[in-house]
Amino acid sequence: MTTTRTETALDRFIAQTCDLFAQETDTEIRWLKLTSILRELLADPDLQEASKNWPECIVTDRAENLLFYVDPDYGFAVNGLKRLPENRVKPPSTEDHPTYKGIHDHGHIFTLYGVLTGHEMIDRYRRVEGTPESCHIKIEETGSFEVKPGDLDLVRPYEIHAERSVGEETVAIIIRSEKSGDFLQGRYDYDTGKYWQVYGPRQTPVEMFGEA
Ligand SMILES: [Fe+2]
Repeated sequence: MTTTRTETALDRFIAQTCDLFAQETDTEIRWLKLTSILRELLADPDLQEASKNWPECIVTDRAENLLFYVDPDYGFAVNGLKRLPENRVKPPSTEDHPTYKGIHDHGHIFTLYGVLTGHEMIDRYRRVEGTPESCHIKIEETGSFEVKPGDLDLVRPYEIHAERSVGEETVAIIIRSEKSGDFLQGRYDYDTGKYWQVYGPRQTPVEMFGEA
């Protein structure tokens, strides 16, 4: 007996994104145009339902992302992030940086962050002075806004930001121009001006529409 696999919203997202990447070579325009394709994915009711089966992401010395897909031709990755309110405790790695509040960059990649469930705050910062080489970068806040399901945030290379919990369970779909985890990303301590680097999120393969 043969079974026919039904096309999922992820299949449609991948096909549309590959078409876009084939047609649009300007990176900035490419990522701006990707927003409408990701919005369509976020609106899929089957995705909302499937996300209930995804495991919680656990923060250790690094963050954790669910890994749904990496494109063999264009290299973009489709990640998930499921956070329960209580996992916002300080990870063990912050013992060296006790005033670290989650402010970071994503290194050289583009990231499109889409909220599927819950609300959270996104804070944006800019570098005032200092360099990575000196391990000291003074930053200042440039904006802070709340995001809700369906909202997107485009994070360009080296943009400094923090996703902050408001005490709710949150689920996000994250599209990255390259699978993270194997390269260093910056972390910033607002209070002390300290800058250091850690590897990006651990990547945990999960079937987006898999069973519990
Ligand atoms: Fe981030």
